[in-house]
Amino acid sequence: MKKIVSMLLILALALSLCVTAFAEDAKTVGIAMPTRSLERWNRDGEYLEEQFKAAGYGVELVYSDNDITQQNNDIGNLIAEGVDLLIVAAIDGESLTQTLADAKDAGIPVIAYDRLIMNTDAISYYVSFDNYQVGVLQGQFVIDTLGLDLNDTSKTYNIEFTAGDPADNNAGFFFGGAFDTLKPYIDAGILNIPSGKTTFEQVATPAWSTDTALENMQNTLASFYSDGTVLDVALCSNDSTALGVAQAISSDYAGSNQPLVTGQDGDIANLQNIVDGKQTMTVYKNVSDEAGVTLELGKAILAGETPDAGLLDSLSAEAAYDTESYDNGTGIIPSYLLVPFVITKDSLQTLVDTGLYAWDGDYLVSTAATT
Ligand code: GAL
Repeated sequence: MKKIVSMLLILALALSLCVTAFAEDAKTVGIAMPTRSLERWNRDGEYLEEQFKAAGYGVELVYSDNDITQQNNDIGNLIAEGVDLLIVAAIDGESLTQTLADAKDAGIPVIAYDRLIMNTDAISYYVSFDNYQVGVLQGQFVIDTLGLDLNDTSKTYNIEFTAGDPADNNAGFFFGGAFDTLKPYIDAGILNIPSGKTTFEQVATPAWSTDTALENMQNTLASFYSDGTVLDVALCSNDSTALGVAQAISSDYAGSNQPLVTGQDGDIANLQNIVDGKQTMTVYKNVSDEAGVTLELGKAILAGETPDAGLLDSLSAEAAYDTESYDNGTGIIPSYLLVPFVITKDSLQTLVDTGLYAWDGDYLVSTAATT
């Protein structure tokens, strides 16, 4: 009996030593998201936290209220706490250089999440979607839906653009993809832009603000459409801006047609607008998959590996390894780019099939806890 008790004691001691060793081994990941005020980042934060925790990592998740100083402080705190890996979705891609130099000095690897972080050699990798392709999908949707044909200039249409935050490196890619795709039709006079606002700078929306997009569209409608000019297309780079633009069209557009309104993200309010016919499409980015790719990459980095194209084999989502497109001013940042796709009223069920959304009557709700 004594023997059994002492054997059990030894076993318990060995087990507790194991657990302690494991706990000491458990690495912590610091995740810095820009803001809770834009829906998608709530989902990103939740999926990243869930997936890293499930893989046995400690997680520190911070949101910085779209405030650049706060994000620098928040990341500074994560560095001081001694996290082993940083995953950062920047508010302003140009403003983290000094803070991330501190991360580098402390030997903490950094993954730029969704938005490229500029002018820092502290970034090891970039995980995002093919941002230019997001814009291409929006532009191509307009071409297909209106049936535009470069050989047929008999029918012309009016279009207005709304782009994103100039501080977000993605915003130029989205606008560029859409504008380049539509440019041949603009040059041929098939698509006209009554406001004359043809450059990114003229149509950018600081902080991706819904209210600013609403105001800008109200001004455009008042200045260029109050005489009965028909608006056929409002090309919006993402859902938060599309929300404001759709509101301006509902309240301030005199025409009787419903213009095509594009978006990006699959935010719940926009999916409702798609059901209600106030928005025509959204470019969907599965951010649970984006978190999953980040997890595989993070695991490899923390295991001391130098991931490359070979990592693609361990991913469950479709992605490309890109070593050409994203130069952050210090050189090319190797990138894992996921694939965005178009959702319309007819394909909403595709979102439910991902398990990330569910039907609530005629509308969709997110199955994520935070949205
Ligand atoms: C971009 C992101 C988009 C959109 C936007 C506003 O950087 O890629 O998906 O969410 O920010 O949050």
